[in-house]
Amino acid sequence: MNFSTWMSAIQRRTEATLEAVLPSPGLAPARLHEAMRYAVLGGGKRVRPLLCHAAGSIFGVGSNLLDAPAAAVELIHAYSLAHDDLPCMDDDVLRRGKPTCHVEFDEATALLVGDALQTLAFLMLSNRLPGIAPARQLEMLHLLASASGSRGMAGGQAIDLAAVNQQLTLAELEFMHIHKTGALIRAAVLLGAHCGEAMPEALESLGRFANRIGLLFQVVDDILDAEASTATLGKTAGKDAAQNKPTYVNILGVNQAKLMADKLRQDAHDALAPFGELAVRLHELTDFIVERTF
Ligand code: IPE
Ligand code: IPE
Ligand code: MG
Ligand code: MG
Ligand code: MG
Repeated sequence: MNFSTWMSAIQRRTEATLEAVLPSPGLAPARLHEAMRYAVLGGGKRVRPLLCHAAGSIFGVGSNLLDAPAAAVELIHAYSLAHDDLPCMDDDVLRRGKPTCHVEFDEATALLVGDALQTLAFLMLSNRLPGIAPARQLEMLHLLASASGSRGMAGGQAIDLAAVNQQLTLAELEFMHIHKTGALIRAAVLLGAHCGEAMPEALESLGRFANRIGLLFQVVDDILDAEASTATLGKTAGKDAAQNKPTYVNILGVNQAKLMADKLRQDAHDALAPFGELAVRLHELTDFIVERTF
């Protein structure tokens, strides 16, 4: 199966899993459920679920087993976007080519959408996962919780907001990116590996890989913000400069940021060496993260 066929297949099964786990729009409170579905379904590249499936595939884990953890990370991600777009954060009106959740519904609803998606993610991940030992599943819950919280994504978002109009050092910028974006990407990879009962050494190599692509993902997001159009991105272009956010582009310039992305891409490929051919999907996703246009 070539990469694009594989990618479409995983995106489709992710959509189906999310569709099934989200409360139906008719169920009370209907407006909240409708907004949750609006924020999650029918958009997004599903990079985190793809990473989860790709990591699981190294250990021969069946897609059926990976669907729940992959969807759980995507729910956390969708929650982070609904909150990221709120007027008190990035104040964005466009997301995935549609009005943002608070524009389509209202601010309080978008806030509750985030809350409810986050808890839904943990509900999903705490359901019995066939073939996974309870101790391993507890580790997975721990992993997702720490990646989402103040030492992970939410903490990174706090740093991002505090950094507006500030001049960060490269080390501070890296710290911010690793948390706000890297943490969930790392969790996606490691959750997939945990489904395959990966040994500590393999987890360590995958952790190194995931740290590189997590940072890489946000460096590319920063470059796209500066270079791509709103129509292509499906979100407002040029927001980082307009809001005076520290990014790799405004600290290093776009050319240096691209060189840095090349170096991270190479480091990521190198970190996969121990897995040989088994890591083919992760290699392909690494290139996709750099070459994507939105
Ligand atoms: C955007 O994430 C926000 C960041 C963490 C940089 P994605 O680029 O994965 O957004 P979707 O899910 O494809 O819309
Ligand atoms: C968002 O970073 C990271 C999270 C949502 C955790 P950005 O603010 O750069 O994401 P976009 O560009 O709005 O998608
Ligand atoms: Mg933001
Ligand atoms: Mg934003
Ligand atoms: Mg951005």
